[in-house]
Amino acid sequence: MKKTYIYSLLFVFALIFNACTYDFIAEEELPPVDPNVDVLFSTQIQPIFTDKCIACHKPGGEAPDLTAANAYNSIKGMNLVNTATPATSGIYTFPNYQAPTHTWKQYSAAEAQLVLTWIQQGAKNN
Ligand code: HEC
Repeated sequence: MKKTYIYSLLFVFALIFNACTYDFIAEEELPPVDPNVDVLFSTQIQPIFTDKCIACHKPGGEAPDLTAANAYNSIKGMNLVNTATPATSGIYTFPNYQAPTHTWKQYSAAEAQLVLTWIQQGAKNN
């Protein structure tokens, strides 16, 4: 009886300890995105596209065209942002590391959070 009690106690502690560790690591990986400070398309979102996406998403390549000159209009034109329900936006969900449908390239957790915050703030061409 006593042994069982101690084991269940240990189990509960293990669960709590694990949960804390996980939260801590997850928080550490994410940059502190302040929802009250505008995420800028030109200097924070476009560089992600330029770095990871334009090898395929360029004029004459896959749509959307994510090159600097065309990315904003291309994303808007294809309805890849939904400011009413930001988390359903194609530009967020399709290459999201949590929803691996787009196996060629994916956002890191930090990039995904930036893209989502940008959409939540109205997906401005800023
Ligand atoms: C190696 C080539 C390649 C790279 C790099 C790439 N993609 Fe794609 N992407 C594709 C292909 C091919 C498709 C279309 C196939 C499909 O729909 O599954 C696609 C489809 C998409 C779509 C869906 C468009 C639609 O029709 O709804 C989005 C959004 C997208 N990519 C965003 C990105 C973003 C953002 C990046 C950079 C983080 C990126 N892609 C990098 C090849 C690539």
